[in-house]
Amino acid sequence: MDIPWWRDAVVYEIYVRSFADASGDGVGDLTGVRERLPYLQRLGVDAIWLTPFYPSPMADGGYDVADYRGVDPLFGTLADFESLVADAHDHGLRVLVDVVPNHSSSEHPWFQAALRGERRDRYIFRDTINNWQSTFGGPAWTKVADGQYYLHLFAPGQPDFNWRNPEVHAEFLDILRFWLDRGVDGFRIDVAMGLYKAEGLPDVGDQSFKSVSPVWGQPEVHDVYRDWRRLLDGYPGERMAVGEVWTDSSEDLALYVRPDELHQSFNFAWLQAPWSPTAFKKVIEDTLAAVPFATWVLSNHDVVRHRTRYDAADPGTGLARAKAALLTMLALPGSAYLYQGEELGLPEVTDLPDEARQDPVFFQSKGELPGRDGCRVPIPWTVDTPSYGFSPGGVEPWLPQPAMFAELSVEKQEGDAGSTLEFYRRALAHRRDLARSIPYTLEWLDSPEGALFFTRGPLTCAINCGLGPVHLPEHDAVLLSSGPLKRGLLPPDTAVWLRRDS
Ligand code: NOJ
Repeated sequence: MDIPWWRDAVVYEIYVRSFADASGDGVGDLTGVRERLPYLQRLGVDAIWLTPFYPSPMADGGYDVADYRGVDPLFGTLADFESLVADAHDHGLRVLVDVVPNHSSSEHPWFQAALRGERRDRYIFRDTINNWQSTFGGPAWTKVADGQYYLHLFAPGQPDFNWRNPEVHAEFLDILRFWLDRGVDGFRIDVAMGLYKAEGLPDVGDQSFKSVSPVWGQPEVHDVYRDWRRLLDGYPGERMAVGEVWTDSSEDLALYVRPDELHQSFNFAWLQAPWSPTAFKKVIEDTLAAVPFATWVLSNHDVVRHRTRYDAADPGTGLARAKAALLTMLALPGSAYLYQGEELGLPEVTDLPDEARQDPVFFQSKGELPGRDGCRVPIPWTVDTPSYGFSPGGVEPWLPQPAMFAELSVEKQEGDAGSTLEFYRRALAHRRDLARSIPYTLEWLDSPEGALFFTRGPLTCAINCGLGPVHLPEHDAVLLSSGPLKRGLLPPDTAVWLRRDS
């Protein structure tokens, strides 16, 4: 079998609101993405994943979709989307779009009809409710005018569909066809382990994401992905789907990527692993043992940026560890998902004023949780205020950017060999040369305390998570390191790629 393009692809997540604003309204848009395709091509990624750009009241940053076949005027037009796909393909970049099947927006015509008392069976309405809580905080049920309640596992503006109604199936197959016909290369599936709720909606003890609970991971969901797989396979050009699946174990994750289901699933265990060689080794072993096509991810638009996570654990180490983790991730078999701005070493913005915050997590937790705005602050392209090149003219972006963004901007880092951006470019260029020619398997080497060494054919990767420097494993050449090597030793918080000729 030919190796499918997505097996080793590096996919770059674009949180559209925060990537680049061409229209000058302070919010990123599709034309902004199109204008930056040369940047992404030069960065060396294989594909982009666009977060939702569909018409939406933005109760949850666009994950509340009012029309699954359109483009919100905030982000452009369908013609802009078509131009973006065509240009991306011309730049050698594939395009994945988000599909949000667990819930719609409360502004969706089906829900508006349901509120009028028509066809409520496309959502989950009940006269009496259970104890389920919204993932964002507060009850998962909201009362409507006639006294019934509807279920929303996220914001009240995100009513959950009733997937036991065949009309919902048919609608989503048609939505997928709509975007496939417009040339998308695949889909990222939001809350892919959701969709079905246990019959009878029993109370739950623990509401958190679980492999299987009355709320998540109901077995019927797999039939949905079997249908979707058949649809994708019917199109030319290796169309694919990657699920946002939170499970307790790699074995449970593997159920979603059986040969007739999804092509890939995010592997959040890598993102959640602490800075420890044993933790990294366990995640890598478990993942490779369980799934045929691994994926790796360190950051996305829902979690604290990994530079800041590492810093929180050990102040001052964040950037060095972020670069070392990246180099290690790019050496692993499988595909890697990057999040916009990590190539600039952006930290989480932790001091956003409350009045600027927009994430429903902040509001539904009554300010107890900061929410996810801190990883969604618009990208700094240039050193100039007010928006560091994010918006044209003097427009302020939708979330305020901190002053340190000038130093971290693309303009500042471009051409500086010591910058994080140029490090990412070198790493991705090396990976592109290597990834499809070396074995998909990995072999562990004996590693000194605190370190982890492995090989894939001619490539050896070594990461030092310990407190002191370690000797490098045997090699003929140093390809690339995440920080300076000291007299042939690998310092703490550093990773290196080495070549062995025999
Ligand atoms: C996961 C998305 O990544 C997140 O941003 C969103 O809030 C929830 N799903 C609900 O759609």
